[in-house]
Amino acid sequence: PQISGSVALFSVSSYACQRRTTLDNHNSNLTDALSLLAENAELNNEDGRGVAFRRAAALLKALPTQVISMSQLRGLPCLGEHSLRVIKDVLENGVSSEVESTKQSKRYKALKILTGIFGVGAKTADRWIRAGIYNLEQLRHSGQTLNRAQKAGLEHYDDLNEPVTKAEADAIGEIVQKAVDSVLTGSQVALSGGFRRGKLTGHDVDFLITHPEEGKEVGLMPKVVAWLESQGFLLYQKTTRNSYLESKDGPARPASNMDRFERCFSIFKLTKGKEQETASHKIWRAVRVDLVVSPISQFAFAVLGWTGSKLFERELRRWAGHEKNMSLSSHALFDNTQNKYLRATSEEEIFAYLGLEYIPPSERNA
Ligand code: GTP
Ligand code: MN
Ligand code: MN
Repeated sequence: PQISGSVALFSVSSYACQRRTTLDNHNSNLTDALSLLAENAELNNEDGRGVAFRRAAALLKALPTQVISMSQLRGLPCLGEHSLRVIKDVLENGVSSEVESTKQSKRYKALKILTGIFGVGAKTADRWIRAGIYNLEQLRHSGQTLNRAQKAGLEHYDDLNEPVTKAEADAIGEIVQKAVDSVLTGSQVALSGGFRRGKLTGHDVDFLITHPEEGKEVGLMPKVVAWLESQGFLLYQKTTRNSYLESKDGPARPASNMDRFERCFSIFKLTKGKEQETASHKIWRAVRVDLVVSPISQFAFAVLGWTGSKLFERELRRWAGHEKNMSLSSHALFDNTQNKYLRATSEEEIFAYLGLEYIPPSERNA
């Protein structure tokens, strides 16, 4: 860091994928404010604004010390006019007036409650709000038709809004491992998502499944799901088929960032340990679990793509496209200059292709 008078100036890269962002955040007062505004923007389908606030928050998460004065931020990337205004407000007044008024607003509160239902996104929530529905009680009595996911989401609302602990994630990991062992020996299960980055809690648990022999993983998901169902572990599941087409020269290029693995959005019924039993005497709780099956040839890309954070992933793809003329997805890396796919068997290789220093999962918490 450069020193200017008594004020330390930070020097930080502009892409989150060039930075090491641990869970040790020295500026949570600022990043909480910016994250709330990002969330509010996303809930209102203002994605551009959402990303701008997310980038600003991520930049602050990567700083080595707490920011106490605006002058420390001079020359830093990712901080737009609006974000700087919010930061200034927090530094000077302890809170941001925009954040406070957002939190108080009827619309924000309703969007939070309604999108807190599994299966309900910003668009559905907006439609319900326009129909005068602001909470679960009003939704239940509204006569709105709910799809299967939303019904399950409403039924298990409290459980699904209770953070999942690492211990619960590990318990579910053992169940998933047992399931894949039962249906195809040699299959491997890898924890991904926030828990792989070292987070202590999450909104769900994410697993990748593969088999060391290419092709053996085909059709694995329905078998795993059937086993889990037969053992009574699933309260809800929706499996989507793999639509990623192989061509002669390699995997076809995905049309968008959406990936095409066989995946399963599920709600697990997890039996609680004695310590976690509550006054309600309910001996189990509902937990959101994402399962993804990847062929071994794409596994490194799948692991990288599903470890997150979401902003880190977005920045990796932006770096690949803008700085390297490459297209990165959770399936493959395509070099548009050489017009060919770059094969990789580890995350380290992918970072190397991208000309980036390797950042371990625990430092991808952008
Ligand atoms: P918490 O679950 O809240 O703890 O955070 P998380 O980082 O685990 O988030 P989440 O479970 O939503 O996603 C985990 C990772 O999977 C993130 O990097 C996402 O970008 C990625 N992901 C989620 N859905 C998709 C998808 O449909 N396609 C792809 N390629 N990646 C996805
Ligand atoms: Mn997750
Ligand atoms: Mn997930």
